[in-house]
Amino acid sequence: MKNNIVLRHNVVKLIRRYLEDMHGFIEIETPILSRSTPEGARDYLVPSRIQSGTFYALPQSPQLFKQMLMVSGFDKYYQIARCFRDEDLRADRQPEFTQLDMEMAFMPMEDMLKLNEDLIRKVRAPLSYVDDVLRPVFAEIKGIQLPDPFPRLTYADAMDRYGSDRPDTRFDLELKDVSNALTGSSFRVFTETLESGGIIKVLCVPLGAKKYSNSALKKRDVYNEAIKSGAKGLPFLKVLDNGEVEGIAALVSSLDPEGKANIVRQCGAKPGDLILFGVGPVTSVNKTLDRLRLFVAHDMDLIDHSKHSILWVTDFPMFEWNEPEQRLEALHHPFTAPRPEDMDDLPSARALAYDMVYNGVEIGGGSLRIYKRDVQEKVLEIIGISAEEAEAKFGYLLEALDMGAPPHGGIAYGLDRIVMMLGGASSIRDVIAFPKTTTAQCALTRTPSEVDPKQLQDLSIRTK
Ligand code: AMO
Repeated sequence: MKNNIVLRHNVVKLIRRYLEDMHGFIEIETPILSRSTPEGARDYLVPSRIQSGTFYALPQSPQLFKQMLMVSGFDKYYQIARCFRDEDLRADRQPEFTQLDMEMAFMPMEDMLKLNEDLIRKVRAPLSYVDDVLRPVFAEIKGIQLPDPFPRLTYADAMDRYGSDRPDTRFDLELKDVSNALTGSSFRVFTETLESGGIIKVLCVPLGAKKYSNSALKKRDVYNEAIKSGAKGLPFLKVLDNGEVEGIAALVSSLDPEGKANIVRQCGAKPGDLILFGVGPVTSVNKTLDRLRLFVAHDMDLIDHSKHSILWVTDFPMFEWNEPEQRLEALHHPFTAPRPEDMDDLPSARALAYDMVYNGVEIGGGSLRIYKRDVQEKVLEIIGISAEEAEAKFGYLLEALDMGAPPHGGIAYGLDRIVMMLGGASSIRDVIAFPKTTTAQCALTRTPSEVDPKQLQDLSIRTK
């Protein structure tokens, strides 16, 4: 733990040197008692004593402040920024975490990506900067050259090939859409899916036929993973050594010899392979096969831990459909600029957004921003924010855009995630001094805790 905290300190030191000394960035602190911005998670609220009945929100990120700084004439801003999000916790999520937050004006996308690649390369291989105490940590990764430039995948490609917008490419196991090849199948699950607009994709697991027993595929391990991801079942086929297939009875009996050969060929399967089918609406198929792909890769030890998979995912859609609320919402945040060539059909436009993904973990994400008021208003309208509401919540931003904002954009990295991965830790809790538990508690100070009733009275708050 101590090594991790020292590592964290050194990573921050390197970041500061790179951004300040080599590129002239300046660090600016932004408020912690601030106002809710739509970053997607729940806010932590702080009641105001003086303005009784009103609340501050702790920042989910300094997004709008850094955009205001660009309008104010600071061309290169960064901050090691504490952020707060009240969301369900996982190994790579904490309620309060630290971002390396950056924003730049007049910087085209290509320069933006290059500067960031160089930054990460520096942090990744900083032997010459590192104190003696850290040499052993970095010795492990000595000689690792990250690619130049980083590979890029569009969101559409990433979802198509891996079922995920943060694919781990240290192993292959690519998904394949076989919907076209299976039209006319007499297997009811397939026909009903295709008729109702769903898709059929496969994950072909090399030598998976022997590894996984039929019971693992029908009621245990692999099956359970599929069900946990929301799938209703898990059709599968095993290609036997003699080229015959076995698997879910109704599927096998729906295939004549030619159909069997055809499906095996379409899936690119070889004798000994296991074919897992994802069947249903495209989003849930991708969710299931992404989960199965990761499960199988870990379970079959297919990940080459000496490899480093770093890439950009680009061209995210601007919006995604929020089913429960029956409305479009911003996939990143509503200040992200659309691709200019997609402006004619804004609701289905792609965004000038980019995520950096390292070994299957999203370590950073950003975008070029909207810098024209009319575009900003249209985007807010699409996600259901009326002109009055926009004025009330973001009037200051709209006014600033009116005054002539420079083209600008930026990115934020999860600093905890970067350090976790550099230190070989499996949770960001291992790289944070005094982290919270999975129930968002501080085990040391035992907070959150009850407070003196007098404090609540001052704040005009009743708890019962
Ligand atoms: P985003 O919401 O993608 O973007 O966050 C940026 C990065 O912060 C990290 N991160 C987290 N780390 C730990 N615990 C969490 N709960 C948590 N949530 C996010 C991730 C993520 O990639 N304002 C935009 C950035 C921008 O557009 O410039 C933003 O906050 O590594």
